[in-house]
Amino acid sequence: MLKLIVCVAENNLIGDKNPTGNGLLWNSKEELNYYRKNTLGQVTLFGKSTAACVPIELMRKTREVIVLNRNTDIPKLLKDYENTGKDIFICGGETIYRYFLENYPIDELLISHLKPHIKVEKANEPLYFPNVEDYGYSLKEKIEYEDFFVYKYSTFGKN
Ligand SMILES: NC(=O)c1ccc[n+]([C@@H]2O[C@H](COP(=O)([O-])OP(=O)(O)OC[C@H]3O[C@@H](n4cnc5c(N)ncnc54)[C@H](OP(=O)(O)O)[C@@H]3O)[C@@H](O)[C@H]2O)c1
Repeated sequence: MLKLIVCVAENNLIGDKNPTGNGLLWNSKEELNYYRKNTLGQVTLFGKSTAACVPIELMRKTREVIVLNRNTDIPKLLKDYENTGKDIFICGGETIYRYFLENYPIDELLISHLKPHIKVEKANEPLYFPNVEDYGYSLKEKIEYEDFFVYKYSTFGKN
């Protein structure tokens, strides 16, 4: 299955165009664990800017990591993993999320919405995740955690 995973703060803020550290403007161990648990053993796709922030080599020990460039043959990549039993996770950043939302049907979207008690740093050049309902996805489940809510969307109902 092709899946998308993202964590958003208020107004769907996801990060800064010029990220520092691990790129995230907040700190929630619980949400990082949720991300780990979902992507463990699976295939993760990153854009170049995000790949520069996340600990790629560490991640490669427990999942496949593919850094996309403009020449990546995405249809071939999706086909190659079709019968492997592995999920492919679109892991951002903003450019990559939009690219997939615009060009490929995604089976499931896992959107973590941080609760207000999580401190969010100010972004100089904020990047926002789009409203997936504008792409025809429907909410199928909402799950509450201490620090966030997960909104699960699917292609069910997509036009
Ligand atoms: N909150 C979250 O869950 C989350 C998750 C991931 C990332 N982020 C944040 O997102 C931000 C990074 O997003 P971003 O948009 O600046 O960068 P990005 O999406 O990580 O990477 C964009 C780059 O990927 C390359 N690329 C590969 N395939 C492409 C394609 N098909 N179309 C266009 N470009 C493609 C391009 O590099 P070239 O121009 O060199 O070809 C492009 O500039 C950071 O702040 C990061 O922390 C947040």
